[in-house]
Amino acid sequence: YDKMKFEFTKENQARIASMLTWYPAEERRGALLPLLDIAQRQHGWLPITAVVAVAELLQIDPMKAYETAKYYTMFYMKPRGKFVVSVCTSTPCYLHGGDELLKACSKMLRLQPGETSKDMQFTLKGDYCLGACVNGPVASVNDDLYEDLTEVSFESILSDLK
Ligand code: FES
Repeated sequence: YDKMKFEFTKENQARIASMLTWYPAEERRGALLPLLDIAQRQHGWLPITAVVAVAELLQIDPMKAYETAKYYTMFYMKPRGKFVVSVCTSTPCYLHGGDELLKACSKMLRLQPGETSKDMQFTLKGDYCLGACVNGPVASVNDDLYEDLTEVSFESILSDLK
């Protein structure tokens, strides 16, 4: 699936063209993360061909773009589920039961962290700080953040998604 052709939609091409006007020519590489994000949102995940397309647009080394994409946990280099469930396992959340929450999700979804269900509905992952540490344990589903979770409350959120 990494060989599939990738092209930005007309709408995204226009969005990117306007975004690039914010960057002086010598600082275009600063647009790498936003462009990778646009590519991922368009495609659902980030195939290597999308990374190469972004690198070409920014005239940067495709290998560097690939390494950057791989570094960030927000980018998915292989197909992912419709719902990406991320449970924060950084220390503040861990101290509030983040680990137990991840175990409960793993049991409920029948997935180990890092796995995607066969029906492509769910991807489960343990994640780093999601930026709401005072209200741990914290988890997210796609772009939605949930705080002060209990196993029961998160289970009900997840079962409403199905
Ligand atoms: Fe969990 Fe920051 S440590 S959100």
